Amino acid sequence: MIGVFDSGFGGLSILKEFLARLPQYDYLYLGDSARAPYGNRSPEVIYNWTREAADYLFKQGCEIIILACFTASANALRRLQQDLNTGTLKHANTKRILGVLIPLAEEAAKISKGHIGILGTRATINSGALTTELKKRPPLGSPPRHSVLGHPQTRRAGRADLEIYSQAAPLLVPLIEEGWQNRPETKRMVRYYLRPLKGKKIDTLLLACTHYPLLKRQIAETVGKQIKIIDTGKTVALSLADYLKRHPEIESKLKKSGQLRILTTDRPEEFERLGSKFLGQNLKAQKISLN
Ligand code: DGL
Repeated sequence: MIGVFDSGFGGLSILKEFLARLPQYDYLYLGDSARAPYGNRSPEVIYNWTREAADYLFKQGCEIIILACFTASANALRRLQQDLNTGTLKHANTKRILGVLIPLAEEAAKISKGHIGILGTRATINSGALTTELKKRPPLGSPPRHSVLGHPQTRRAGRADLEIYSQAAPLLVPLIEEGWQNRPETKRMVRYYLRPLKGKKIDTLLLACTHYPLLKRQIAETVGKQIKIIDTGKTVALSLADYLKRHPEIESKLKKSGQLRILTTDRPEEFERLGSKFLGQNLKAQKISLN
């Protein structure tokens, strides 16, 4: 089973692409709605809560977990991978935990002429993790490497030429959750957050938050056609497909009966209502407790 974790229902925008491209697998989605949003929390809190969720998903039988949350990937992934390796997180050492930053970084480094903008939650931007990953990408023109969704890898000289500009956009998540995508207030906020990035003449924009793809049209209208916006969910899903192809030892353990279970730590009815917009279809959510 593939575990998919997010602070709430936003990660369903990533799961939607997994289901479209890799429908054969069984998925267990967990959204920690009781404690969401994670975006303004400290790295320590984000790590502790993400660890509880990962532990839960592994106990349910997941062989691999994708942290579909950018805030969790940026602030907890590396430590959780170390915990698995050292046995601090007690699960079979064949289990894997992966994130969403590297697929985006790889795609951006492939297409950018050199000026990249990142939009994310405060905790994602403050971590600097996506900037670090972007700088590690191989220089343009080197032979292609395989995507690893955040799994530790050997280093080599990166794209030090990249100019990266980050912008935290903390007010966009609540506006999207209110369903205010088309309100003038939201368009004003989008313009406000993008103004500094546009001023830096970026050529590529990363939407490093599960929620922002729901504002893609408004963001595209604001930045203009000359700036490429990477398709977050699709990029992550293609990267997962590639990872599973290259890791038959993990892929062969995954159940393939196309089943989907969705869990939340609070208010399942609310989760179903808002989550269906992110998943693009109706869903049933079951309430569980993490502590
Ligand atoms: N899922 C979070 C992310 O992708 C956004 C919502 C939150 O702040 O918890 O960063």
